[in-house]
Amino acid sequence: MSDPLLHAQELSIRYLDSADYVVQNFSFDLYEGEILCLRGRSGIGKTTLTAAIMGMLPVTNACAEGTLCYRGLDLIRADERQLRALRWHEIALVPQSSMNAFNPVYTMSKTLREMMKLENRAITKSEMQRREERLMELVHLDRSVLGCYAHEMSGGMKQRAAIALAMVYSPRLLILDEATTGLDIKVQADVLGTILQLKQETGMTILFISHDAELGDKISDRRVEMR
Ligand SMILES: Nc1ncnc2c1ncn2[C@@H]1O[C@H](COP(=O)(O)OP(=O)(O)OP(=O)(O)O)[C@@H](O)[C@H]1O
Ligand SMILES: [Mg+2]
Repeated sequence: MSDPLLHAQELSIRYLDSADYVVQNFSFDLYEGEILCLRGRSGIGKTTLTAAIMGMLPVTNACAEGTLCYRGLDLIRADERQLRALRWHEIALVPQSSMNAFNPVYTMSKTLREMMKLENRAITKSEMQRREERLMELVHLDRSVLGCYAHEMSGGMKQRAAIALAMVYSPRLLILDEATTGLDIKVQADVLGTILQLKQETGMTILFISHDAELGDKISDRRVEMR
């Protein structure tokens, strides 16, 4: 079997304002091209783990031990420059509840274009238009949604928009933290379908995080349990 894309071995994480470990001796491998479901009850440390993978644990209030490697790079000991090169570009995250965190005075197009400009200040309007339309296609949203503000979108639309935002830099690994929690069953099923098609079209690797085992089983190739 090839080397894993992401490798965690005996990973432990604690916040310094508490004596207890949030994540304790947790090991798992994620292989390129698969959808892995990471499951665990509320408060078990799933979002904390995503923060560690993204290099976004609070520097003054968290401590990680053990091994956490992305394509051989030690994420625990990497410096900020190395993490910045990975974050959003190689590994992107759809954060928990991110669909409720859109800037209310930005349209969807403005939100996506701001991300594009962060990467390339000289990007042309026609290139931005081409890319935003492609992103809308990938997450099954109509182009007209580009002109919408968050309050004009349904929950399912906002969740798709949050996925589009994470896809701006075409990451190799997409982490979805409770991506369909809070949506009704029909919309959940539609968004899961979109995620599966997105994977088929892009070949991305997906870490699908959910406290709901059934939901994860619907789309994942494999499941890992956090205990
Ligand atoms: N920034 C932080 N500082 C201190 N403690 C934190 C911080 N973030 C999370 N915690 C604590 O770490 C524990 C795990 O939280 P975390 O959000 O990782 O769990 P989770 O598995 O994602 O839960 P949920 O399923 O509800 O999203 C909780 O006890 C939480 O209070
Ligand atoms: Mg969480």
